[in-house]
Amino acid sequence: MHRIDVLTLFPKAFNGYIDHSILGRAQVRDIINVKLHDIRGYSHDKHHTVDDYPYGGGAGMIMKPEPIFEAIENVKREIQVDKVPVILLTPQGRLLNQDVAVELSKEQNLILICGHYEGIDERVAEHLSTDEISIGDYLLSGGETAAMVIIDCLVRLFPGAIGSDVSLIEESHVRGVLEYPQYTRPPEYRGWKVPEVLLSGNHQQISAWRREQSILRTMRRRPDLLCRADLSEADHKTIESFRSALSNN
Ligand code: ADE
Repeated sequence: MHRIDVLTLFPKAFNGYIDHSILGRAQVRDIINVKLHDIRGYSHDKHHTVDDYPYGGGAGMIMKPEPIFEAIENVKREIQVDKVPVILLTPQGRLLNQDVAVELSKEQNLILICGHYEGIDERVAEHLSTDEISIGDYLLSGGETAAMVIIDCLVRLFPGAIGSDVSLIEESHVRGVLEYPQYTRPPEYRGWKVPEVLLSGNHQQISAWRREQSILRTMRRRPDLLCRADLSEADHKTIESFRSALSNN
């Protein structure tokens, strides 16, 4: 079973999410165990102080190192593993993508630290965490939503967590390009028809159409992904014909 320990000042922020569909089911099936730890519980003064003013001045408060160090030491004792990846969620970290998620999904244990306020005392990044991850180039008010994003990505990758593994096989097949458009009934809605080929029952044609749609969509919306995508001879032909159609217009 995979175990993820999350250190946060706001454990209640995870309410609802932890028990929600796929993650909830995965916990029931003992595929994953998510444990929340309130950092405030590791501060020893009577006001349970977890933050303080920044040395050198400036706006905002900084999370103190002691409660975070002690919380991690406590988690390591609890799981009886010393060499566990400790990931600090921060906009300064390396960017999360599917490759990073796959890398993390190989770990049996993970500890996530959610930051808050203007930041965390740098000694946490230097001497406690083993990795820093950002979920995107924007500022969140805390690392809790980022932790949920990471947990969500990981759960999907753990064998048995998703109902049918077929959807995973499909996804891994098309990795590197965007998904093709999907339709369900009715075949015509307000005059908008589902593409004919999808109703044809011809699986070879459907596969070819879907791949072509994936490639075209990626070219239009995320051309940056194409240079790293796993492209076949047919994919290159699709790209070529789309490019020459564009230049003829
Ligand atoms: N904390 C604040 N902003 C963040 C981001 N973009 N990713 C991860 N953690 C964060």
